[in-house]
Amino acid sequence: MNYSEKVIDHFTNPRNAGEIENANAVGEVGNAQCGDIMRMYMLINEDEVIEDIKFRTFGCASAIATSSVTTELIKGKTIEEALKLTNKTVVEALDGLPEIKIHCSVLAEQAIKEAIANYYSGKTLVH
Ligand code: FES
Repeated sequence: MNYSEKVIDHFTNPRNAGEIENANAVGEVGNAQCGDIMRMYMLINEDEVIEDIKFRTFGCASAIATSSVTTELIKGKTIEEALKLTNKTVVEALDGLPEIKIHCSVLAEQAIKEAIANYYSGKTLVH
């Protein structure tokens, strides 16, 4: 499988990996077919700006790379801006993904939306 330099870079040197202790928005999504799980932790301030974001992903190389690049795309953005993130944006930021790995980038979009939904509903996930 041909991976771009960026995918390899983000997989081997993931940005913002880990958890945020005092996160107020956490979203976890999974893909039933491959069994991979992605969890996003965010710290959103009173101006609705995502001050910090980290991820824990139990999944394939593309899932790790998409998680990593997504944290870079989202950090410092408002909730409104974050909700506009699509998996297409994520794939472009990685200079592409192999066709059979596109679903991995969908997890990133879903995890961000899930975390924001949980932020508004006040739902917290146990770490
Ligand atoms: Fe399922 Fe990558 S193979 S997220």
